Amino acid sequence: MKTKWKKRETMKTGKVLISTTEEKETMVVGEALGFIIKEPLVIAIDGDLGAGKTTLVRGAALGLEVEGKIRSPTFNLLRVYRGRLPVYHFDFYRLEVEEELFDLGLEEYLEGQGVVFIEWANKFPSFLPGEYLEVYLERVCGEGGNRQEWRNLYFNPRGDYYERLLDIFLENTCYDFQGRINYRGRDIKEE
Ligand SMILES: Nc1ncnc2c1ncn2[C@@H]1O[C@H](COP(=O)(O)OP(=O)(O)O)[C@@H](O)[C@H]1O
Ligand SMILES: [Mg+2]
Repeated sequence: MKTKWKKRETMKTGKVLISTTEEKETMVVGEALGFIIKEPLVIAIDGDLGAGKTTLVRGAALGLEVEGKIRSPTFNLLRVYRGRLPVYHFDFYRLEVEEELFDLGLEEYLEGQGVVFIEWANKFPSFLPGEYLEVYLERVCGEGGNRQEWRNLYFNPRGDYYERLLDIFLENTCYDFQGRINYRGRDIKEE
């Protein structure tokens, strides 16, 4: 199996670009990311409504061996799960004032023993730690009659630790010959 992924600088917010054409594929990207996470860290996820942020976290939760369903924390601001590590899933979409983040104890979570995912993280950038992995998802509609639609996922590591994390992620992940995303640790043969 040969990797087709190219590490490339992009003009957008991201460093590494991965495109997915369906929900399941974004899940697998998330799962591959979750799979390589072995210690507490922070992942900030941005992109418009419906871009696939929650889908990515759902996949990551699988890779982190969370059992049960991941529900969008849009209305709760935070949902907590138990996997190989604790998983803290934040969503700042409905958050209006920063004070709520103090009430939630965000800072303790960021310095804590779990894996923190934050949807709409850039709404309150001052709360982000010095280093984290930034993921930006973009919904793209192709031109022409076939109405093709896909998602671009831009991975931008902020800090050396996250540079290394992204390297490990890419080393462990590739497309198979059918163009499906695959990664070491799980052989994805479906349908
Ligand atoms: N390639 C793709 N990746 C992720 N979601 C996709 C993709 N293509 C279509 N979708 C659809 O887009 C929606 C993404 O929803 P969700 O993950 O909740 O987005 P967000 O959390 O960014 O608002 C889902 O309804 C999903 O079925
Ligand atoms: Mg969401």
